[in-house]
Amino acid sequence: MKPIALTGIKPTGNPHIGNYLGMYRPALDLMENYQGMYFVADYHALTTMRDAQKLRDLVYEVAASWLALGLDPEKAIFFRQSDIPEIPEFAWILACFTSKGLLNRAHAYKDAVDTNLANNHDPDEGINSGLFYYPVLMAADILLYGSAVVPVGLDQKQHIEITRDIAEAFNRSYGNVLTVPEGIIQESVKKVPGLDGRKMSKSYDNVIPIFATEKQVRKQVMRIVTDSKRPEDPKDPEGDNLFSLLQFFAAPDRLEEIRQLYVNGGAAYGDLKKELAALILDEFAEPREKFNALIADKAKLDQILNDGAQKARAIAKPVLAKTRKVTGID
Ligand code: TRP
Repeated sequence: MKPIALTGIKPTGNPHIGNYLGMYRPALDLMENYQGMYFVADYHALTTMRDAQKLRDLVYEVAASWLALGLDPEKAIFFRQSDIPEIPEFAWILACFTSKGLLNRAHAYKDAVDTNLANNHDPDEGINSGLFYYPVLMAADILLYGSAVVPVGLDQKQHIEITRDIAEAFNRSYGNVLTVPEGIIQESVKKVPGLDGRKMSKSYDNVIPIFATEKQVRKQVMRIVTDSKRPEDPKDPEGDNLFSLLQFFAAPDRLEEIRQLYVNGGAAYGDLKKELAALILDEFAEPREKFNALIADKAKLDQILNDGAQKARAIAKPVLAKTRKVTGID
């Protein structure tokens, strides 16, 4: 078997083209050289989510999104985190090799504490232990399958470092039992600009969604912020967010034409936006159809995820068995 590339996906709905270009595509491309493992991190979602139906819906939505955008469940192992009962057991064992200070320094927890302190609240107000323990659960996700590489965004870099620390601490006591993984940090996520030129992100309300209706996609594209130059005015394509987005979707010769129109005059923003919307709708026409079919067939999604869980557990069991054996738990 090829070495494993594993990544966890938080169940958040409605992926946008920044997610696709920055995360989905690079993670899926790894399947060429690695055995891909992708899972929906529903246990992690429970650190913040308090709406049961919403959590269930989001798991299906995110599963359908990945399958529609190219995850092949015959080649990759695709599953739901909570379908792996070995995970919580393994996470507990790992917790016993994780210094509390290491978790105190984890960004998400530390930020929450700092916010409380800044507001003169008790440092741990409103913080559940799951949030504190989050990096240990993530280490369990990664180490349980002997993952070689973990593709993640820059915001997850510290979690990979913590995972490596935990694996090394465990191995110091028992020899070379756990595989120490490498992170593959996808910094490119930053480079997909949103409608306003800032990084495309739901929290900025500047996204172009992939699985929205055609009308919604067009509407968002028309909202791309441009300056007040007239079509005949020369413009600088570098740093122009409409042009940056066109770069991801226009064919190379057409892009060159557009570049010339920018430089020499003749680029009308309204027309170019319409062109961009058409390109995006065309690019995602097939995934959109696939997504709609999958989201209407929950039984099929369950079946795919259950099959994936069986395959994942087959990889997990020997690793957990060895961990139990060396620690004396068996
Ligand atoms: N914490 C990751 C995120 O917020 C999701 C995640 C959970 C993950 N377990 C993982 C990513 C294991 C990589 C490997 O995006």
